[in-house]
Amino acid sequence: MKVHKIADSIVCIYANIESTDLFEGIWPIPQGVSLNCYLVQGKKTALIDLIRDWSEAPRQLEEAMASAGTGFDNVDYLILNHLEPDHTGWLREFRRINPRAEIISTAKGINLVKTFYKENQGLRAVKDGEKLDLGGLELVFWETPNIHWPETMMTWEPQSGTLFSCDAFGSFGTLGDRVFDDEFSPEEHAFYEAESLRYYASIVSSFSAFVERGISKISPLGVACVAPSHGIVWRKHPETIIDRYRTYAGYSKGSAEKEITVIWGSMYGNTWLGVEAVIRGIQAEGVPCHIHRIPDEDVSYSLADAFKSSALVLAMPTYEYAMFPPMAYVLDIFRRKHIFGKTVFRIGSWGWAGGAKKEYEAAIEALQWESVPPMEWAGAPTEQELAVLEERGRELARVVKT
Ligand code: FEO
Repeated sequence: MKVHKIADSIVCIYANIESTDLFEGIWPIPQGVSLNCYLVQGKKTALIDLIRDWSEAPRQLEEAMASAGTGFDNVDYLILNHLEPDHTGWLREFRRINPRAEIISTAKGINLVKTFYKENQGLRAVKDGEKLDLGGLELVFWETPNIHWPETMMTWEPQSGTLFSCDAFGSFGTLGDRVFDDEFSPEEHAFYEAESLRYYASIVSSFSAFVERGISKISPLGVACVAPSHGIVWRKHPETIIDRYRTYAGYSKGSAEKEITVIWGSMYGNTWLGVEAVIRGIQAEGVPCHIHRIPDEDVSYSLADAFKSSALVLAMPTYEYAMFPPMAYVLDIFRRKHIFGKTVFRIGSWGWAGGAKKEYEAAIEALQWESVPPMEWAGAPTEQELAVLEERGRELARVVKT
Protein backbone atom coordinates (compact mmCIF):
# COMPACT_ATOMS: atom_id res chain seq x y z
CA MET A 1 0.00 0.00 0.00
CA LYS A 2 1.20 3.49 -0.90
CA VAL A 3 2.61 5.58 1.97
CA HIS A 4 1.33 9.17 1.96
CA LYS A 5 4.10 11.12 3.63
CA ILE A 6 3.43 14.73 4.65
CA ALA A 7 6.86 15.13 6.24
CA ASP A 8 9.61 12.77 7.43
CA SER A 9 7.73 12.02 10.61
CA ILE A 10 4.11 12.47 9.46
CA VAL A 11 2.02 10.06 7.40
CA CYS A 12 -1.62 10.27 6.33
CA ILE A 13 -3.47 6.99 6.77
CA TYR A 14 -7.13 6.74 5.87
CA ALA A 15 -10.11 4.56 5.05
CA ASN A 16 -12.19 5.04 1.93
CA ILE A 17 -15.83 4.59 2.88
CA GLU A 18 -18.08 3.32 0.11
CA SER A 19 -21.41 2.65 1.71
CA THR A 20 -25.11 3.15 1.13
CA ASP A 21 -25.36 4.21 4.81
CA LEU A 22 -26.24 7.84 5.22
CA PHE A 23 -23.58 10.09 6.75
CA GLU A 24 -24.80 11.12 10.22
CA GLY A 25 -27.83 8.95 9.40
CA ILE A 26 -29.15 11.80 7.20
CA TRP A 27 -26.91 12.70 4.26
CA PRO A 28 -26.32 10.47 1.23
CA ILE A 29 -22.71 9.95 0.14
CA PRO A 30 -23.01 8.30 -3.29
CA GLN A 31 -19.33 9.04 -3.95
CA GLY A 32 -18.35 8.00 -0.43
CA VAL A 33 -16.22 9.78 2.12
CA SER A 34 -12.75 9.28 3.54
CA LEU A 35 -11.91 8.98 7.22
CA ASN A 36 -8.41 10.42 7.53
CA CYS A 37 -6.07 9.82 10.43
CA TYR A 38 -2.45 10.82 10.85
CA LEU A 39 0.61 9.19 12.35
CA VAL A 40 3.17 11.52 13.87
CA GLN A 41 6.35 9.75 14.95
CA GLY A 42 9.07 11.18 17.16
CA LYS A 43 10.60 9.05 19.90
CA LYS A 44 6.93 8.53 20.78
CA THR A 45 4.13 7.85 18.29
CA ALA A 46 0.89 9.78 18.12
CA LEU A 47 -2.18 8.72 16.16
CA ILE A 48 -4.40 11.69 15.39
CA ASP A 49 -8.10 10.83 15.16
CA LEU A 50 -9.62 7.42 14.66
CA ILE A 51 -12.41 5.81 12.60
CA ARG A 52 -15.67 4.01 13.12
CA ASP A 53 -16.15 0.38 12.11
CA TRP A 54 -17.67 1.19 8.75
CA SER A 55 -16.98 -0.22 5.29
CA GLU A 56 -13.98 -2.20 6.55
CA ALA A 57 -12.30 0.94 7.86
CA PRO A 58 -10.38 -0.90 10.65
CA ARG A 59 -8.83 -3.29 8.14
CA GLN A 60 -7.98 -0.42 5.78
CA LEU A 61 -6.37 1.56 8.58
CA GLU A 62 -4.44 -1.42 9.89
CA GLU A 63 -3.02 -2.06 6.41
CA ALA A 64 -2.08 1.61 6.03
CA MET A 65 -0.32 1.54 9.41
CA ALA A 66 1.56 -1.62 8.45
CA SER A 67 2.71 0.09 5.23
CA ALA A 68 3.98 2.94 7.39
CA GLY A 69 5.95 0.37 9.41
CA THR A 70 3.88 0.39 12.57
CA GLY A 71 0.66 -0.89 14.14
CA PHE A 72 -2.05 0.14 16.58
CA ASP A 73 -0.17 -1.46 19.48
CA ASN A 74 2.78 0.92 18.89
CA VAL A 75 0.71 4.05 19.46
CA ASP A 76 1.70 6.02 22.58
CA TYR A 77 -0.87 8.80 22.26
CA LEU A 78 -4.29 8.72 20.64
CA ILE A 79 -5.28 12.30 19.97
CA LEU A 80 -9.00 12.89 19.47
CA ASN A 81 -9.63 16.29 17.95
CA HIS A 82 -13.38 15.67 17.85
CA LEU A 83 -15.56 13.01 19.40
CA GLU A 84 -18.22 12.47 16.73
CA PRO A 85 -18.32 8.71 16.20
CA ASP A 86 -17.16 8.84 12.57
CA HIS A 87 -13.75 9.60 14.19
CA THR A 88 -14.09 7.64 17.40
CA GLY A 89 -16.59 4.78 16.92
CA TRP A 90 -13.79 2.20 16.91
CA LEU A 91 -12.31 3.47 20.20
CA ARG A 92 -13.22 0.47 22.35
CA GLU A 93 -11.64 -1.95 19.86
CA PHE A 94 -8.55 0.26 19.68
CA ARG A 95 -8.41 0.20 23.47
CA ARG A 96 -8.63 -3.58 23.50
CA ILE A 97 -5.63 -3.80 21.10
CA ASN A 98 -3.72 -1.06 22.87
CA PRO A 99 -4.61 -0.59 26.56
CA ARG A 100 -1.58 1.61 27.30
CA ALA A 101 -1.99 4.52 24.85
CA GLU A 102 -2.91 7.79 26.49
CA ILE A 103 -6.07 9.31 25.03
CA ILE A 104 -5.78 13.07 24.61
CA SER A 105 -8.56 15.56 23.96
CA THR A 106 -10.05 18.76 25.34
CA ALA A 107 -11.78 18.56 28.73
CA LYS A 108 -15.14 18.42 26.94
CA GLY A 109 -13.77 15.76 24.62
CA ILE A 110 -12.59 13.63 27.55
CA ASN A 111 -16.08 13.86 29.06
CA LEU A 112 -17.48 12.52 25.79
CA VAL A 113 -14.96 9.66 25.81
CA LYS A 114 -16.43 8.69 29.17
CA THR A 115 -20.09 9.07 28.15
CA PHE A 116 -19.90 7.60 24.64
CA TYR A 117 -17.44 4.78 25.31
CA LYS A 118 -17.40 4.32 29.11
CA GLU A 119 -13.61 4.62 29.08
CA ASN A 120 -12.19 6.08 32.29
CA GLN A 121 -8.51 5.10 32.27
CA GLY A 122 -5.52 6.70 30.54
CA LEU A 123 -7.27 9.94 29.64
CA ARG A 124 -5.64 13.37 29.49
CA ALA A 125 -7.48 16.65 29.02
CA VAL A 126 -5.41 19.37 27.36
CA LYS A 127 -5.91 23.11 27.40
CA ASP A 128 -5.79 25.62 24.58
CA GLY A 129 -2.17 26.08 23.47
CA GLU A 130 -0.86 23.12 25.48
CA LYS A 131 2.06 21.18 23.97
CA LEU A 132 2.89 17.50 23.76
CA ASP A 133 6.54 16.50 23.39
CA LEU A 134 6.93 13.44 21.17
CA GLY A 135 10.73 13.46 21.40
CA GLY A 136 12.18 15.26 18.41
CA LEU A 137 9.02 17.11 17.59
CA GLU A 138 6.03 18.49 19.42
CA LEU A 139 2.33 18.93 18.89
CA VAL A 140 0.28 21.93 19.98
CA PHE A 141 -3.46 21.80 20.66
CA TRP A 142 -5.75 24.67 19.71
CA GLU A 143 -9.34 24.68 20.85
CA THR A 144 -11.71 25.41 17.96
CA PRO A 145 -15.15 24.85 19.49
CA ASN A 146 -18.11 23.99 17.31
CA ILE A 147 -16.18 23.03 14.21
CA HIS A 148 -17.99 20.81 14.44
CA TRP A 149 -18.98 19.97 18.06
CA PRO A 150 -18.29 22.03 21.20
CA GLU A 151 -15.33 19.87 22.27
CA THR A 152 -13.41 20.22 19.00
CA MET A 153 -9.74 21.17 18.81
CA MET A 154 -7.14 21.21 16.07
CA THR A 155 -3.63 19.80 16.43
CA TRP A 156 -0.64 21.70 15.08
CA GLU A 157 2.82 20.40 14.22
CA PRO A 158 5.03 23.51 13.92
CA GLN A 159 8.15 21.96 12.36
CA SER A 160 6.37 20.97 9.13
CA GLY A 161 3.56 23.54 9.50
CA THR A 162 0.89 20.85 9.39
CA LEU A 163 -2.56 21.60 10.79
CA PHE A 164 -4.65 18.56 11.66
CA SER A 165 -8.01 20.29 11.39
CA CYS A 166 -10.47 17.40 11.77
CA ASP A 167 -13.89 18.29 10.24
CA ALA A 168 -12.81 21.80 9.26
CA PHE A 169 -11.65 22.05 5.64
CA GLY A 170 -13.14 18.63 4.89
CA SER A 171 -15.26 17.25 2.09
CA PHE A 172 -17.34 14.28 1.06
CA GLY A 173 -15.89 11.95 -1.58
CA THR A 174 -13.48 9.04 -1.26
CA LEU A 175 -9.81 9.59 -2.07
CA GLY A 176 -8.92 6.41 -3.98
CA ASP A 177 -5.16 5.99 -3.61
CA ARG A 178 -4.26 9.69 -3.78
CA VAL A 179 -4.58 12.20 -0.96
CA PHE A 180 -2.67 15.41 -1.84
CA ASP A 181 -4.12 18.42 -3.65
CA ASP A 182 -1.33 18.37 -6.26
CA GLU A 183 -2.27 14.80 -7.23
CA PHE A 184 -5.76 15.62 -8.54
CA SER A 185 -6.82 16.96 -11.95
CA PRO A 186 -8.90 20.15 -12.37
CA GLU A 187 -11.95 17.97 -13.07
CA GLU A 188 -11.39 16.02 -9.87
CA HIS A 189 -10.94 19.27 -7.95
CA ALA A 190 -14.29 20.47 -9.36
CA PHE A 191 -15.91 17.34 -7.95
CA TYR A 192 -14.33 17.82 -4.51
CA GLU A 193 -15.26 21.49 -4.52
CA ALA A 194 -18.92 20.61 -5.10
CA GLU A 195 -18.74 17.95 -2.41
CA SER A 196 -16.98 20.29 0.03
CA LEU A 197 -19.83 22.78 -0.41
CA ARG A 198 -22.45 20.04 0.13
CA TYR A 199 -20.49 18.80 3.17
CA TYR A 200 -20.20 22.31 4.59
CA ALA A 201 -23.86 23.19 3.98
CA SER A 202 -25.03 19.89 5.51
CA ILE A 203 -22.63 19.50 8.42
CA VAL A 204 -20.98 22.81 9.29
CA SER A 205 -23.18 25.71 8.12
CA SER A 206 -24.96 26.12 11.45
CA PHE A 207 -21.56 26.93 12.98
CA SER A 208 -20.21 29.44 10.45
CA ALA A 209 -19.45 32.08 13.10
CA PHE A 210 -17.18 29.53 14.78
CA VAL A 211 -15.53 28.71 11.44
CA GLU A 212 -14.62 32.38 11.04
CA ARG A 213 -13.21 32.47 14.57
CA GLY A 214 -11.29 29.26 13.94
CA ILE A 215 -9.77 30.62 10.72
CA SER A 216 -8.72 33.82 12.52
CA LYS A 217 -7.10 31.72 15.23
CA ILE A 218 -5.06 29.51 12.90
CA SER A 219 -4.14 32.20 10.35
CA PRO A 220 -1.08 33.54 12.23
CA LEU A 221 0.40 30.03 12.41
CA GLY A 222 1.55 30.06 8.79
CA VAL A 223 -0.08 26.79 7.80
CA ALA A 224 1.92 24.89 5.18
CA CYS A 225 -0.35 21.84 5.02
CA VAL A 226 -4.03 21.44 5.91
CA ALA A 227 -4.67 17.85 6.93
CA PRO A 228 -8.41 17.38 7.56
CA SER A 229 -10.23 14.26 8.65
CA HIS A 230 -12.31 14.02 5.47
CA GLY A 231 -11.09 14.54 1.93
CA ILE A 232 -8.02 16.05 0.30
CA VAL A 233 -4.82 16.89 2.18
CA TRP A 234 -3.72 20.36 1.05
CA ARG A 235 0.09 20.49 0.98
CA LYS A 236 0.63 22.65 -2.12
CA HIS A 237 -2.15 25.21 -1.85
CA PRO A 238 -3.54 25.10 1.70
CA GLU A 239 -4.87 28.64 1.18
CA THR A 240 -7.35 27.27 -1.41
CA ILE A 241 -9.39 25.30 1.10
CA ILE A 242 -9.00 27.92 3.85
CA ASP A 243 -10.30 30.64 1.49
CA ARG A 244 -13.10 28.36 0.36
CA TYR A 245 -14.23 27.82 3.93
CA ARG A 246 -13.99 31.57 4.59
CA THR A 247 -16.31 32.11 1.60
CA TYR A 248 -18.72 29.43 2.82
CA ALA A 249 -18.84 30.99 6.28
CA GLY A 250 -19.67 34.30 4.60
CA TYR A 251 -22.71 32.73 2.93
CA SER A 252 -24.23 32.29 6.40
CA LYS A 253 -23.97 36.06 6.90
CA GLY A 254 -25.73 36.92 3.63
CA SER A 255 -22.96 37.10 1.04
CA ALA A 256 -23.88 35.03 -2.02
CA GLU A 257 -23.12 34.24 -5.63
CA LYS A 258 -25.14 35.85 -8.41
CA GLU A 259 -27.01 32.61 -9.02
CA ILE A 260 -30.55 31.31 -8.57
CA THR A 261 -31.56 27.94 -7.15
CA VAL A 262 -34.90 26.54 -8.24
CA ILE A 263 -36.39 23.90 -5.95
CA TRP A 264 -39.57 22.36 -7.19
CA GLY A 265 -42.05 19.57 -6.57
CA SER A 266 -45.08 18.77 -8.69
CA MET A 267 -47.84 16.19 -8.25
CA TYR A 268 -49.27 16.03 -11.76
CA GLY A 269 -47.15 18.46 -13.78
CA ASN A 270 -49.09 21.73 -13.42
CA THR A 271 -46.57 23.32 -11.07
CA TRP A 272 -43.76 22.12 -13.33
CA LEU A 273 -45.28 24.02 -16.28
CA GLY A 274 -44.94 27.21 -14.25
CA VAL A 275 -41.38 26.30 -13.19
CA GLU A 276 -40.36 25.85 -16.82
CA ALA A 277 -41.65 29.34 -17.64
CA VAL A 278 -39.73 30.91 -14.74
CA ILE A 279 -36.54 29.08 -15.75
CA ARG A 280 -36.93 30.37 -19.33
CA GLY A 281 -37.01 33.89 -17.96
CA ILE A 282 -33.98 33.37 -15.72
CA GLN A 283 -31.95 31.78 -18.48
CA ALA A 284 -32.86 34.55 -20.93
CA GLU A 285 -31.09 36.93 -18.55
CA GLY A 286 -28.01 34.69 -18.45
CA VAL A 287 -28.04 34.08 -14.70
CA PRO A 288 -26.72 30.65 -13.61
CA CYS A 289 -29.64 28.52 -12.44
CA HIS A 290 -29.48 25.33 -10.36
CA ILE A 291 -32.58 23.15 -10.63
CA HIS A 292 -33.54 20.54 -8.03
CA ARG A 293 -36.66 18.41 -7.96
CA ILE A 294 -37.96 17.25 -4.59
CA PRO A 295 -38.41 14.70 -3.18
CA ASP A 296 -36.67 12.84 -6.01
CA GLU A 297 -33.33 14.36 -5.08
CA ASP A 298 -31.97 14.50 -1.54
CA VAL A 299 -32.29 17.85 0.22
CA SER A 300 -28.49 18.16 0.67
CA TYR A 301 -28.08 19.03 -3.03
CA SER A 302 -30.64 21.84 -3.02
CA LEU A 303 -29.29 22.93 0.36
CA ALA A 304 -25.77 23.34 -1.06
CA ASP A 305 -26.89 25.39 -4.06
CA ALA A 306 -29.37 27.44 -2.05
CA PHE A 307 -26.63 28.18 0.51
CA LYS A 308 -24.48 29.94 -2.10
CA SER A 309 -27.23 31.48 -4.29
CA SER A 310 -28.58 35.03 -3.99
CA ALA A 311 -32.12 34.02 -4.89
CA LEU A 312 -34.42 31.04 -4.73
CA VAL A 313 -37.49 29.94 -6.62
CA LEU A 314 -39.63 27.64 -4.49
CA ALA A 315 -42.30 25.88 -6.50
CA MET A 316 -44.86 23.56 -4.95
CA PRO A 317 -48.47 22.60 -5.34
CA THR A 318 -50.93 23.02 -2.52
CA TYR A 319 -51.36 19.64 -0.84
CA GLU A 320 -54.39 19.03 1.40
CA TYR A 321 -54.83 22.78 2.07
CA ALA A 322 -51.15 23.16 3.01
CA MET A 323 -47.60 22.99 1.63
CA PHE A 324 -46.40 20.11 -0.48
CA PRO A 325 -44.86 18.00 2.36
CA PRO A 326 -41.38 17.58 0.78
CA MET A 327 -41.09 21.38 0.60
CA ALA A 328 -42.01 21.63 4.27
CA TYR A 329 -39.06 19.33 5.01
CA VAL A 330 -36.73 21.40 2.80
CA LEU A 331 -37.70 24.60 4.61
CA ASP A 332 -37.23 22.97 7.99
CA ILE A 333 -33.69 21.91 6.99
CA PHE A 334 -33.00 25.41 5.61
CA ARG A 335 -34.03 26.93 8.93
CA ARG A 336 -31.85 24.52 10.88
CA LYS A 337 -28.88 25.18 8.58
CA HIS A 338 -29.23 28.97 8.63
CA ILE A 339 -29.98 29.59 4.95
CA PHE A 340 -30.50 33.28 5.61
CA GLY A 341 -30.82 36.41 3.51
CA LYS A 342 -32.19 35.15 0.20
CA THR A 343 -34.55 36.80 -2.28
CA VAL A 344 -37.33 34.28 -2.81
CA PHE A 345 -40.07 33.82 -5.40
CA ARG A 346 -42.73 31.26 -4.42
CA ILE A 347 -44.99 29.80 -7.07
CA GLY A 348 -47.37 26.86 -7.39
CA SER A 349 -50.58 25.33 -8.60
CA TRP A 350 -53.62 24.56 -6.46
CA GLY A 351 -56.49 22.18 -7.18
CA TRP A 352 -59.75 22.61 -5.32
CA ALA A 353 -58.43 25.26 -2.93
CA GLY A 354 -55.20 27.06 -2.01
CA GLY A 355 -53.63 26.96 1.42
CA ALA A 356 -49.83 26.71 1.18
CA LYS A 357 -49.38 30.42 1.98
CA LYS A 358 -50.09 30.37 5.71
CA GLU A 359 -47.91 27.37 6.47
CA TYR A 360 -45.16 28.68 4.17
CA GLU A 361 -45.05 32.09 5.84
CA ALA A 362 -44.78 30.49 9.27
CA ALA A 363 -42.00 28.19 8.04
CA ILE A 364 -39.84 31.02 6.69
CA GLU A 365 -40.41 33.50 9.51
CA ALA A 366 -36.95 32.96 11.03
CA LEU A 367 -35.07 32.96 7.72
CA GLN A 368 -34.87 36.73 7.07
CA TRP A 369 -35.81 36.28 3.41
CA GLU A 370 -36.86 39.03 1.05
CA SER A 371 -40.01 37.65 -0.56
CA VAL A 372 -41.04 38.92 -3.97
CA PRO A 373 -44.83 38.70 -4.57
CA PRO A 374 -45.72 35.01 -5.00
CA MET A 375 -47.79 33.63 -7.84
CA GLU A 376 -50.31 30.81 -7.64
CA TRP A 377 -52.75 29.51 -10.21
CA ALA A 378 -55.67 27.10 -10.37
CA GLY A 379 -54.94 23.79 -12.06
CA ALA A 380 -52.94 24.18 -15.27
CA PRO A 381 -51.44 27.63 -15.91
CA THR A 382 -53.00 29.63 -18.76
CA GLU A 383 -50.88 31.05 -21.60
CA GLN A 384 -51.24 34.44 -19.98
CA GLU A 385 -50.07 33.11 -16.61
CA LEU A 386 -47.10 31.41 -18.25
CA ALA A 387 -46.10 34.69 -19.88
CA VAL A 388 -46.29 36.44 -16.50
CA LEU A 389 -44.24 33.67 -14.86
CA GLU A 390 -41.55 33.98 -17.52
CA GLU A 391 -41.41 37.72 -17.04
CA ARG A 392 -41.21 37.27 -13.26
CA GLY A 393 -38.27 34.91 -13.81
CA ARG A 394 -36.57 37.66 -15.83
CA GLU A 395 -37.25 40.21 -13.11
CA LEU A 396 -35.78 37.95 -10.43
CA ALA A 397 -32.67 37.41 -12.56
CA ARG A 398 -32.27 41.15 -13.01
CA VAL A 399 -32.47 41.65 -9.24
CA VAL A 400 -29.71 39.04 -8.82
CA LYS A 401 -27.50 40.73 -11.44
CA THR A 402 -27.68 44.17 -9.82
FE1 FEO B 1 -16.42 14.08 10.82
FE2 FEO B 1 -18.26 16.01 13.05
O1 FEO B 1 -17.39 14.46 12.39
